[in-house]
Amino acid sequence: MRQASVPHGATRRSPLRVATTLIATGVVAAATAVAFASAADAATTLGASAAQSGRYFGTAIAAGKLGDSVYTTVANREFTMVTAENEMKIDATEPNQNQFTYTNGDRIASWATGNGKRLRGHTLAWHSQQPGWMQSMSGTALRNAMINHITRVATHYKGQIYAWDVVNEAFADGNSGARRDSNLQRTGNDWIEVAFRTARAADPGAKLCYNDYNTDGQNAKSNAVYAMVQDFRSRGVPIDCVGFQSHFNSQSPVPGDYQANLQRFADLGVDVQITELDIEGSGSAQAASYSTVVKACLAVSRCAGITVWGVRDTDSWRASATPLLFDGNGNKKPAYTATLDALNGGPTNPPTSDPTTPPPTGGACSASTTLNQWTGGFTATVRISAGSAAVNGWAVTLTLPAGASVTNTWNAVAGGGSGTVRFANASYNARIPAGGSTEFGFQGTGTGPSATPSCAAS
Ligand code: XIL
Repeated sequence: MRQASVPHGATRRSPLRVATTLIATGVVAAATAVAFASAADAATTLGASAAQSGRYFGTAIAAGKLGDSVYTTVANREFTMVTAENEMKIDATEPNQNQFTYTNGDRIASWATGNGKRLRGHTLAWHSQQPGWMQSMSGTALRNAMINHITRVATHYKGQIYAWDVVNEAFADGNSGARRDSNLQRTGNDWIEVAFRTARAADPGAKLCYNDYNTDGQNAKSNAVYAMVQDFRSRGVPIDCVGFQSHFNSQSPVPGDYQANLQRFADLGVDVQITELDIEGSGSAQAASYSTVVKACLAVSRCAGITVWGVRDTDSWRASATPLLFDGNGNKKPAYTATLDALNGGPTNPPTSDPTTPPPTGGACSASTTLNQWTGGFTATVRISAGSAAVNGWAVTLTLPAGASVTNTWNAVAGGGSGTVRFANASYNARIPAGGSTEFGFQGTGTGPSATPSCAAS
């Protein structure tokens, strides 16, 4: 049998093309095994390796460091996306009310575009890093100042921004699931959707993200963000993406359900992005955590890319904890190698994203629940039915009443135990033929769910 022809000296080759070529020449059995870039073909920078699956790999950039040639050499070589670390924040761009200063933001933007990189905008509305004049404002005056700020800044950068973090960190930490108290929040609960609508009007070409921390796993805070995104999607509030900052350390390690959490947001019809990744530590433990994060993103088709929050450890806002991929001299750390290897070995499912995608209209599966309720407990049986096309995988999302929690699940994998819970197929019941159905069940304490669950097919 003729060997698949591979151009000699090719340094980057789409893994998808490898598989396609082999199938075309009949080596079908080998296609799965080599559906990843082989070592000889592996891309040698973070940006190029992420690009093999259509993703970006970015960094935060500080304008004050653009004169440091070690910094710019590493940044230019490795990254394909740039976020201004501080220079597009409210205090930087509008230091006095209605006086806009774009000097440092523009330096970063022109460095990025001049070197062929895309830009993430960070951030238009935030309780922190507000200029003094805004900190002391409230009510209608503040609401109007926010709208003016978003309009002016998003218009200035119109056409240059891949995605804006429109609103940053608007939810409270802990178990309340509440909004964070702030002067912006006190202008009215609708301030977030007003911010998104304002940003869309100013720059319709930019993806619009909500960005936060401590939302990386399923918890009360991320459940609250999830409910907001679900609500925005159902009411047509323009939101395209959710940013997961992903600042990790030993007190706040990469959560075990990181991938499942990214996936449940993606299932709402938004892109997910890892926006400010840094992981405190060193050596193989740090490397392993970076690898976990990269693999989680690669496994979620709507995970569009990863941004680390700085270039070298010494550039980090948490420099003493050495959370980045390069040491202070710009040398690659074990965490770098683990990240590159994970990017080169990852699955090829390309990110599917489109800022103008309308909210989902139903999908190819539906779900219904039969409840057996007693005082203080229940069992629920959920039937998933495929439509006129077969389903290759499914995930059912339902919201439990306050106080209820899942204690036991069968024929599905549960993500989360209370609030909004996502159940994904088990390996043996992923496929449902056209017109067919399957069932899973769970037991819980408290009152069982009464609303119709949502079902996402893959
Ligand atoms: C940080 C910057 O890295 C620091 O230089 C600055 O002093 C404070 O802000 N979440 C965010 C980022 O969204 O904007 C923050 O960046 C880190 C936490």
